[in-house]
Amino acid sequence: MGREKIVVIDFGGQYNQLVARRVRECNVYCEIYSYKTDMEKIREMEPKGIILTGGPNSVYEEGAPSCGRELFELGVPVLGLCYGAQLMSHVLGGHVCKAPVREYGRIEVTVDQSSRLFGDVSEKTICWMSHNDYIEKPAPGFRVIAHTADCPVAAAEWAERGLYAIQFHPEVLHTQEGSKMLHNFVYEICGCAGDWRMDSFVETSIRAIREKVGSGKVLCALSGGVDSSVAAVMLAKAVGDQLTCVFVDHGLLRKNEGDEVEEVFGPNGPYDLHFIRVNAQERFYGKLKGVEEPERKRKIIGEEFIRVFEEESKKIGKVDFLVQGTIYPDVVESGLGGESAVIKSHHNVGGLPDYVDFKEIIEPLRELFKDEVRKAGLELGIPEKLVYRQPFPGPGLGIRIVGEVTAEKVKMVQDADAIYREEIAAAGLPHTPDQYFAALTNMRSVGVMGDERTYDYAVALRAVNTVDFMTAEASQIPWEVLQRVTSRIVNEVAHVNRVLYDITSKPPGTVEFE
Ligand code: XMP
Repeated sequence: MGREKIVVIDFGGQYNQLVARRVRECNVYCEIYSYKTDMEKIREMEPKGIILTGGPNSVYEEGAPSCGRELFELGVPVLGLCYGAQLMSHVLGGHVCKAPVREYGRIEVTVDQSSRLFGDVSEKTICWMSHNDYIEKPAPGFRVIAHTADCPVAAAEWAERGLYAIQFHPEVLHTQEGSKMLHNFVYEICGCAGDWRMDSFVETSIRAIREKVGSGKVLCALSGGVDSSVAAVMLAKAVGDQLTCVFVDHGLLRKNEGDEVEEVFGPNGPYDLHFIRVNAQERFYGKLKGVEEPERKRKIIGEEFIRVFEEESKKIGKVDFLVQGTIYPDVVESGLGGESAVIKSHHNVGGLPDYVDFKEIIEPLRELFKDEVRKAGLELGIPEKLVYRQPFPGPGLGIRIVGEVTAEKVKMVQDADAIYREEIAAAGLPHTPDQYFAALTNMRSVGVMGDERTYDYAVALRAVNTVDFMTAEASQIPWEVLQRVTSRIVNEVAHVNRVLYDITSKPPGTVEFE
């Protein structure tokens, strides 16, 4: 018996990864597939249940994403969400049409508590709605199990067949009892046992890696970020000194970060692996000399990184396996999983295989969402400080210094950023911004310090709240905290005489400040 699985069929809606994450939070493994996936392939996976996601279309539009009747005849429970619910009704003979009133936002829904989907859910419950069309008449065999003031069929079921259609989005946190509904679906309706747990995932993966690698040699490029660190520790636990980790310090890391990585992975750390730290700072600064244009800087850093890594790996000779920290959103976003149109343009420590002589790639985190990677990291005993690290771009501080990068500017931005992080941590904010950092503008202006006139740089502070980093809002950091950070930066960081706080959202800004 393989691992039990729920299959999420993606119709292009914005919450698709969220559906999969919520199911996994119920300890049930689940994967996302495009609606174009062959029915035979889905059958072969022997899913315990299927969830159809929302999507931007109308079911009666020409060329709208669809599915065959067979999907509902596999003998596997199916839950349709929003577009998925409309599609289920449409395909099975119900009637979907443009709703007289468009529902958007938090709406009170009245549910029939006798439905297994709504076990333990309050009779009146707030749900997140976002639809133009609605199910006017459910398909034959279905009964209505929820409604709102404007929507006569907010949910319908054909319980004997295990078919459930719901108009709202249980995966979104605004649906107050959404997790309970998904929990009911996977346990009460699909009969899952809940075998997806990080401790067993880690254990099984280590065993599988050991078997695969045998006595082979493994190479891992370590960036110090969460993904590559978790992947490296997993490998270290599996194959010990057959693993070599190469850590390229490009001199564009946050303050002390290089040493922190070395503490964990280096010779005095807890793992028995070969650790190579390449101190390539000067080399990178040399290449970046005089370069101001951000895309050029990114390219130079990326290319130089590969070159350094290539040189190091040549010294090691032929390796059998190369480790990559690919995670599940990368798989989905590169178009291999669901329907998502977002193609990842950020390059991290990827793109190495062409340059290194190896037999096979190992991607131990390929199935995991970011929060699961963090849980796996904690299971593996990696320090929390490392596990909860903020996202940090591959090109590092190289893209947080506007204009030319120099060693002096790197030092300024590192020091300012360290102060900012210390003060945010000390402030104990009720919600820590999802990402925050200091950047160095290339603006100099006049100031006065003591009795002296200064002509120095301005540091920009950035802090954002975001769910997926595609859009972001500036965080409202309390004024007193900003004041403290500012006063410390101008006092402690040489050649900075001004601090600016960036309140631009994304779009039109970006998260980074380059
Ligand atoms: P932007 O600036 O595009 O950033 O709004 C969105 C998120 O992506 C991170 N970012 C990168 N991550 N390599 C990465 O691995 C990169 O080249 C890169 N550029 C931006 C950024 O920190 C934010 O979290």
